[in-house]
Amino acid sequence: MAKLIAANWKMNKTVDETVDFISGLKKSKIPKEMEIAVFPPFTSLHAASKLLEKSKISLGAQNMYFEEKGAFTGEISPLMLKELGCRYVLIGHSERRHIIAEKNKDIKKKFSLALKWELIPVLCVGETKKERKSGKTMEVIESQLKGIQASKGIVIAYEPVWAIGTGENATAKQASEMHSAIRRIISRNSIRIIYGGSVSPENSSNFLREKEIDGLLVGGASLDLKKFTYIINS
Ligand code: PGA
Repeated sequence: MAKLIAANWKMNKTVDETVDFISGLKKSKIPKEMEIAVFPPFTSLHAASKLLEKSKISLGAQNMYFEEKGAFTGEISPLMLKELGCRYVLIGHSERRHIIAEKNKDIKKKFSLALKWELIPVLCVGETKKERKSGKTMEVIESQLKGIQASKGIVIAYEPVWAIGTGENATAKQASEMHSAIRRIISRNSIRIIYGGSVSPENSSNFLREKEIDGLLVGGASLDLKKFTYIINS
């Protein structure tokens, strides 16, 4: 299974900046054993999709709604993402859970609908610092995974909330332990589990060396083409 390196740009990059980055990325060296995916904001998906038409780099969206269409002002449906050539969609990113207050039950609806539309859901799970300190990590992860259909091909991103955008990454050992625990919970070996949370050019190779870690979800460091291509080649 190819390792997946995903760039989550969050609410960053205009269309022009997206075009610059992707044009540069297409010219960069990408090892054969890696799959690269970019997750631009919705407004840049169309431009990104055109640029990636004949490329091996995959496109993903950062979110979607749990209905196909209707009176849901401001929301984006999976079929719109499919039309734009998206292969992946992030579901339940911690910023959506904690800042936008998305609920587990809605996240699970999104997950199922993504599968229905043949989008590959990248389900994000992870505990807060408080939950880790009070020994609730596994309970939290279990509730985030409960009831999801662990079909072949889906991706789970383990992203401890305390590590996201903080510069305080989990160690490769901590991430590996969590990945094998997640594999046990979903009782599936054939799905990719990637790590996210303060991944940088300095620490990426530590994670990629681990057998349990099938790739990386990179936020801050993915905004800079030099840093991102360094991570891809680490
Ligand atoms: P970070 O973000 O790399 O900036 O910590 C990761 C993510 O939120 O996916």
